[in-house]
Amino acid sequence: MTSIAGSAGAPHASILGVGAYRPSRVIPNSEVVDAIESSDEWIQQRSGIKQRRWAAPDETVQLMSVAASREALERAGIQPEQVDCVIVATVTHLLQTPAVATAVAHELGTQNAAAFDISAACAGFCHGVSLAADMVKGGSAGHVLVIGVERLSDITDLYDRGTAFIFADGAGAVVVGPSETPGIGPVVWGSDGEQFDLIRQKEDWRDVVGTPTAPGSGVMPHLVMQGNPVFRWASFAMAKVGQQALDRAGISVDDLDLFVPHQANMRIIDAMARSMKLPERVKIARDIAEQGNTSAASIPLALHRMMEEGDARSGDVALLIAFGAGLAYAAQVVTVP
Ligand code: UT7
Repeated sequence: MTSIAGSAGAPHASILGVGAYRPSRVIPNSEVVDAIESSDEWIQQRSGIKQRRWAAPDETVQLMSVAASREALERAGIQPEQVDCVIVATVTHLLQTPAVATAVAHELGTQNAAAFDISAACAGFCHGVSLAADMVKGGSAGHVLVIGVERLSDITDLYDRGTAFIFADGAGAVVVGPSETPGIGPVVWGSDGEQFDLIRQKEDWRDVVGTPTAPGSGVMPHLVMQGNPVFRWASFAMAKVGQQALDRAGISVDDLDLFVPHQANMRIIDAMARSMKLPERVKIARDIAEQGNTSAASIPLALHRMMEEGDARSGDVALLIAFGAGLAYAAQVVTVP
């Protein structure tokens, strides 16, 4: 029988560099409250958000991805030609095909790197990190760029009280590459499709653009969310997933330096931290106050801020946990580059 060659990669994988792109337009709560009959006080109390950033027309998904990636590559000391694969986690590249990752890979100057998008909503970045780590260890890529990017302002109904104040835009990127010691722990991931309807685009694209035989509605298929059930699910179920990720990495909360959860709501972040009994000294990412909920971009953006502000230092051990539409979730322990 003919046997085919197997592949083997590096002994371990790590995050080698982190980059971010925050759009230039800062939108304080005062700018969103009138359309939804809300108040700065309500928004801050219920979500912890003080302001968010919405992209200008020229700050496209591609532009933000490339900018965040260039910083991540520079910090990792990796040239674009060394990148074998580009993974973009997003739900707001509004062309069904081709994947924006291909254009990003080209603009960065990779040598025909494999490139594809993944759709796991707010959990997309942690899914991408897990795929990248397995690629590096499995031998299908030497270095992988993982980008989380969103322009949620495009698909947010600014008159919807349940979402208009939450969602925001931005991009974060990491370079995943080989390492001598494990820098990315085993992933704990899954989905609860029974709750598929809790966060979703309201219309099907065919209803919006129409078909050859029927006209469409002509409105953007906005995101709708049943916030409270998602809030309750995230606050309780996700702490367990976080604990499982620690267990799989063979560590306890006492070994953690940083907690970098998806920036969905400050109260969810606090509830998870309480439930996991994180020691006081564990630093907690709270980028949501300034940045809003940027879905797939929120974790790399939050980690980037902690590194910039000196809260995260090289070698620190961080628990990442992401969750959102699907309901999909993923968590892993990583070390800060
Ligand atoms: O990123 C993907 C995952 N997403 C999430 O994890 C988001 C999870 N959900 C949330 O963050 C929260 O559910 C929200 C921040 C969206 C809402 O907070 P909540 O504590 O769940 O509020 P609620 O929907 O239960 O509404 C409470 C009250 C209601 O009034 P009554 O019935 O108590 O009189 C609402 O009508 O607040 C009212 N309300 C508002 N008031 C002012 C709802 N939206 C608004 C608003 N401004 N925008």
